[in-house]
Amino acid sequence: MEALAGKVIVISGASSGIGRALALELAQQKPRLVLAARTPERLEETATLCRSRGAEALVVPTDVTSAEACSMLIDAAAKQFGAIDVLVNNAGAAMWARFDELPDARRLEELMQLNYLGSVYPTHAALPHLKRTRGLIVAIASISGLISPPLLSGYAASKHAVIGFFASLRIELQASGVGVTIVAPDFVQSEILSLATGADGKSLGNSPLDQSKLLSAEKCAKKIVRGIERRKRLVLTSERSAWARWGMLLAPKLVDRIAARIVGFRG
Ligand SMILES: NC(=O)c1ccc[n+]([C@@H]2O[C@H](COP(=O)([O-])OP(=O)(O)OC[C@H]3O[C@@H](n4cnc5c(N)ncnc54)[C@H](OP(=O)(O)O)[C@@H]3O)[C@@H](O)[C@H]2O)c1
Repeated sequence: MEALAGKVIVISGASSGIGRALALELAQQKPRLVLAARTPERLEETATLCRSRGAEALVVPTDVTSAEACSMLIDAAAKQFGAIDVLVNNAGAAMWARFDELPDARRLEELMQLNYLGSVYPTHAALPHLKRTRGLIVAIASISGLISPPLLSGYAASKHAVIGFFASLRIELQASGVGVTIVAPDFVQSEILSLATGADGKSLGNSPLDQSKLLSAEKCAKKIVRGIERRKRLVLTSERSAWARWGMLLAPKLVDRIAARIVGFRG
């Protein structure tokens, strides 16, 4: 029995990377998917692949940094399918730079706007629908929202905000039956690192980490689907993430050193 068959699932950032892989993994269970991101052509590619696996798919080009656009996304989903069961807040971007090399600290506003508020806006719009279905909110945060690697200060701050917000919301929503699953992936193969902005505000162009050593987006998507089916509180994607959480309490300086080594930071 497929737990998510017929469920209406809204996914932001579904045009590439983890969002696309998640849509494709879910599609096998024949849900009704609502796919959002800014680039219509890439969303249509995702939708075509999902339909070929048996899912229904609606494409709604959306910039999640706009509260109005997020309301329109949720309205379009509810109008088309009559309900919303799961909202996956996945759209995001990264910055890879030392904070003291940024010419303008306001660069961090963009990350907060997309990674944090871009999850808050769809959630606010979808809540009335999710309460009716006793549905689930999935927040794709990051392990950088639990520990804080160097070179990722702005990104880590935005993901800490995501985790803080959704952990609080989970308690507020307990009586309503709406669940909250926080996903905190370790590094995953995707475009996010090559698209990440450097200190000069331009995309790095190349990933600063060897992508072949990272978890594939497909494997990450399988772990997320399992987390959705079980309505888990927290989904981690690597053993070192689980160790890092305990390490922060028991040996925080060691975790700092390991985090610096992982991102190649030499001080
Ligand atoms: N890859 C990793 O190592 C990793 C690790 C931990 C957490 N994560 C998180 O996982 C999520 C997905 O990242 P990814 O690695 O799959 O990156 P990705 O391949 O770069 O995908 C990012 C997605 O977000 C969409 N997006 C970007 N800006 C948007 C906006 N303003 N409005 C709507 N959609 C927007 C992009 O589509 P358009 O450009 O078409 O809008 C794309 O679909 C992010 O929240 C990221 O922080 C990633």
